[in-house]
Amino acid sequence: MNMKEVVLKLENVYKTYHLGEIETRALRGVNLEVYKGSFLSIVGPSGSGKSTLLNIMGLLDFPEKGKVFIEGTDVTTLGINEMATIRGQKIGFVFQQFNLIQHLTALENVILPMLFQNVAEDEARKRARDLLKMVGLEEKISRRPYQLSGGEQQRVAIARALANNPSIILADEPTGNLDSKTGKMIMEIFKHLHQDKKRTIVVVTHDSYIASYGDQKVLIQDGRIVSNHQTRKEYIS
Ligand SMILES: Nc1ncnc2c1ncn2[C@@H]1O[C@H](COP(=O)(O)OP(=O)(O)OP(=O)(O)O)[C@@H](O)[C@H]1O
Ligand SMILES: [Mg+2]
Repeated sequence: MNMKEVVLKLENVYKTYHLGEIETRALRGVNLEVYKGSFLSIVGPSGSGKSTLLNIMGLLDFPEKGKVFIEGTDVTTLGINEMATIRGQKIGFVFQQFNLIQHLTALENVILPMLFQNVAEDEARKRARDLLKMVGLEEKISRRPYQLSGGEQQRVAIARALANNPSIILADEPTGNLDSKTGKMIMEIFKHLHQDKKRTIVVVTHDSYIASYGDQKVLIQDGRIVSNHQTRKEYIS
């Protein structure tokens, strides 16, 4: 059997921002299905709605109209607490600015989301160590973010995103604040997570080289998906 399982689905999603008199129609009827084990790149010009789209996919923001399904559950019908629980369990988010907590060590940053999900502290600590080892930071787990390079901070952020074993990892311009060599190293981690760990990954980028890591490319313009196609042969599972 080779059934494609949809892990995340957007149905006719709209989002308009209001700033005083100014109205920005950031998303205008987006339909998208993300299959389990796929690696999606979302590309498009600045202001086209990429971050808005990713934030809605990651339950960090609400659509104004339309539905968002995570593993078949329509999250737009849920209350804010239930939504936060699903986000914590199913979604790992990586930001351009890393967004680590400055007064916590690398290890503590990775432990924190597990404590929010009531994982026992010993177990959380062990898992955080393993994840930091996976991203090559076992020597630096006691450092705080300001004692780490940008690439190292982003690796901590990836370990943190993986903490609760999410079914989907979303990354908004994860290499945007890094030089190209470091950016490539970060993308190699995503590639490993995809190919070896069979994770589902969505990366927003305006860089076509970064986008080439994906096996499916979605182009967004003026709040609409204008193309969505496979860029490589699918993996046989
Ligand atoms: N909080 C907000 N309030 C008002 N307008 C917003 C807000 N966030 C985004 N916008 C507007 O919505 C549109 C889409 O923004 P979005 O951040 O999704 O674009 P993007 O494709 O991620 O761009 P970039 O490549 O520059 O990051 C833009 O016109 C932007 O100015
Ligand atoms: Mg953006």
